[in-house]
Order: sequence, then C-alpha cells, then structure tokens
Amino acid sequence: MSTTETFDSTTGSIRTTRTGAAYADAARDHLWMSFTRQSTYEPKESGGTGGSVPIIVKGEGAYIWDDRGRKYIDGLAGLFTVQVGHGREELAEAAAKQARELAFFPLWSYAHPRAIELAERLAADAPGDLNRVFFTTGGGEAVESAWKLAKQYFKLTGKPGKYKVISRNIAYHGTPQGALSITGIPDAKIPFEPLVPGAVKVPNTNLYRAPEHLREDPKAFGRYAADRIAEAIEFEGPESVAAVFLEPVQNSGGCFPPPPGYFERVREICDEYNVLLVSDEVICAFGRIGSMFASTDFGYQPDIITVAKGMSSGYSPIGAIIASDRLFEPFRHGHEMFAHGYTFGGHPVSAAVAMANLDIFEREGLNQHVKDNAPLFRATLDKLLDLPLVGDVRGEGYFYGIELVKDKTTRETFDDDECERLLRGFLSKALFDAGLYCRADDRGDPVIQLAPPLIIGQPEFDDIEQRLRSVLTEAENHLEIPQSVRYRHL
Ligand SMILES: Cc1ncc(COP(=O)(O)O)c(C=O)c1O
Repeated sequence: MSTTETFDSTTGSIRTTRTGAAYADAARDHLWMSFTRQSTYEPKESGGTGGSVPIIVKGEGAYIWDDRGRKYIDGLAGLFTVQVGHGREELAEAAAKQARELAFFPLWSYAHPRAIELAERLAADAPGDLNRVFFTTGGGEAVESAWKLAKQYFKLTGKPGKYKVISRNIAYHGTPQGALSITGIPDAKIPFEPLVPGAVKVPNTNLYRAPEHLREDPKAFGRYAADRIAEAIEFEGPESVAAVFLEPVQNSGGCFPPPPGYFERVREICDEYNVLLVSDEVICAFGRIGSMFASTDFGYQPDIITVAKGMSSGYSPIGAIIASDRLFEPFRHGHEMFAHGYTFGGHPVSAAVAMANLDIFEREGLNQHVKDNAPLFRATLDKLLDLPLVGDVRGEGYFYGIELVKDKTTRETFDDDECERLLRGFLSKALFDAGLYCRADDRGDPVIQLAPPLIIGQPEFDDIEQRLRSVLTEAENHLEIPQSVRYRHL
C-alpha cells in the first residue's frame, strides 16, 4: 500500500484509480502537468524531491478540499477563474440541460442559440461599438485570434505592412506561438524559439520598480510608461505596427495597475499611429476589478477585448474576442472571411454555462460587491506591510500582489538562489499547508498573488491575512539574510 493512499472526503471511503493506484502515484506516473517541475514528485531514489501531487476533489463557495479531507481557502479562484465560487448547482444544471438539448454544434457557417445569446450579451456589456464576438475555447486562443484579426484587418484596408505587436515586459498572454511571442517572460519563451516574429516589448507599469525620480509621481510615471509605446512604434516604423496588447492590471510580475492617465495616453498614441488597442482582459474582466470589463473600470476604449476564464467561472471552458464595428466592416462584403476558428469555439454547453454565470452576476450584484469590498480587502492586506519581508502590496478590485523583498529600505530583491529557497523551497508548500491556496511567483520579482472568488468579504479577508502573516513570519527563518539588513527599516 502506498503511503499516499487517499480517501474520498465526501464518502469517507478509500479512493484509488481504476488500476488500484493511489491518485498521487498515478498522477506522478501518468499526468504531465502544465508549467510544473515534474521532478518535485519523482521519488528521491530517482533524483526527484519525493513530493506528493496535491489532489483537489471538491469545491464549495470560496473553499476547496483535497483528497485527505483538508480544507483550503481558494485565494486564486482556481486560476483567476471561479468568480462566483465553487459548487454552484445552477451552473451544473445549465450544462446538463444544454448537453441534453444540443451537446455540440460548431459555429462554422451555422449557429446555435446559446452562442447567439451570449454574443449579444457580451456586445451589450462591452464598451462603445465592440459589437462583434468571435468565440474561442480559452484565453491564449483569444490573444492568438486577436493578433491574426489585426493583421488581416490591415491587409484588407490597404496597409498590408502592419503586422507587428507591442506588449509589456513580464506580461503573460498565453502559450500558442503567437500569444507566446506577445508574452514578455523570457523563460517561458526561450525553449520554443524562434517564435512568431514582430513582437516588441516596452516597460510595464510597475510603480514600485519605476525609475527613482518617478516613484513619487504616478501620473508622470504613467506618461513615461505610455510614451515608451510611442517610442517603440516610431522605432519599428508606424507602417509596420498593427496592435498593442495590454492587460488593464498586469498579472505577471504581481498586479501592476495602470498609473493615472496611462490608458488615456495609450489611446491617444494608438489613434495617432493607427494602431489597434487590444485590452487583454482574460483575468480582469467579469468582475475581477469591479465591472464586466476592466476597460470600463479604467475608462478607456479598446478596439478589441480578449476574454476567457471568468466568463463561465470555469465551469466549462470558453474564451472570446470582442471586436469593434470598424474591425468587422471589411468582412461584411464580398468574398472576405476571417479564415480562422476552433472546433469547440463557442461550445453550446460552455455558452449555456456562461449565460447562467452572468445571470448570477446580475442577480447577486457581484460587480457592486467587488466595488464595495475592494477597499476593505486592500486595507486588510496592507496590514502585512509591517512585516520585514513585505515590500509592496498592490492591485485593484479582488486582484492583489504582495511583493517580497530582502531589504525594505533599498527595495533590494532576492537573487535566484534565494528565490528558489524562499518560493519553491518554502512558501508555496507552507501557504498550502496553512490552508491557503494562492500563488507564489517569481516570473518577475517574487510575489504572492491573490485573486479569490468574488463572493468573499471581510471574514475571509481577515482569514487570508492571518494565514499569510503566520507563513511570512515563519519564512524569515528560511532565509539566511543578515539581521542587520533584515531589520534595518525597523
Ligand atoms: C492576460 C492573459 N492572457 C491570456 C492568458 C491565456 O489564457 P489560457 O490559459 O486560457 O489560454 C492568460 C492566462 O492566465 C492571461 O492571464
């Protein structure tokens, strides 16, 4: 018998796979996980770390349970996704009803009611004349589709040389090769190079790491960061640039909100150079910041919005691009078509679930709930700033990053070895063991990220803060930082 033998937390009975293997062992032997260092789970005898794959078997509201019956608060909504919380019976019902009625039909010259209803609904909620919805099955495909659409749009409107895209350092936009080109994380790209050419990077809006003379003046920093986009367009040649891809609040690197005036200036630049503004809202849409679309929260008008994740709260996969009337115009006539698509794009079951999910948003006033409670969430997390390790707390809505630093006074960060010891060697596991599922990430500087279901309030904010506080206090013992550096700020 394996020591990792598991039990079913709902029935209390021992649970194994059909071959009789414990789930953790079968996962180690057969499951190839996304962005996962598999050696973590390989036995020590074969050079691995001997860890056990965490297996999540149940969700209810803002909580999840593992296969040993242990309960965790879901501080990341799965993966920035489960906006309405786990275990919603009516979403399961919506999926079952649709599967009985029409389980599958493609949107290739035919349509089905749920995709039509959902397209109409997204168009109604989207800002300005973003009236045309093209469905995908996820976010990376949406980004990929948006770049392809931008290229073809310019080909059809007499500017065939416009194909390049601009995006920001450390930003994550997905893994298909086009989307990965747009992604600004070197380590995610290097194994797959050469990627799609023509993807240019500009600075992001990390105010904490802004040039020193701009740190105290967010507006000036916003202007500075936006102007780097104009500079890149000039450098590449405006006749070659098709689009700028930006998240409303950049996730990777640890939640960088836009400084005041940033998007206003970006919109001006895009208009001046005839470059499309793509708002990648795969994380930020559907209430994460407090509105259906985060471009509304920050008051700018994109040409395309990309969405996925929260559209169905993850109960069934779906993504989309929502494009302006202007972009659709050349496709209205003659023989032209967007020669692009996915078998499962706008899947009837997923579209039905998304409709039911958006019904919950309306009925329960979730966006207003986020707007009302975000300042409390922020204030609760800000308490952590009294810890020596916590350099910055930043974000908007129900979306926060907590940056960890070696020295608060100088903002000195950890080197690679220290990050490895702190994040992988201690924090990720310790947070989980403490009953908090969230993300400890070092794609930029080391951060802990929180993006819980949108249904939580003050009791859960306090719970999250308490768990973080005890683990971060303990974390200091795992760092060999001289006391003189660690306590200099106190
Ligand atoms: C901003 C952004 N764009 C695109 C993606 C890719 O989405 P998916 O994983 O559904 O392909 C993500 C995923 O986290 C994202 O955060």
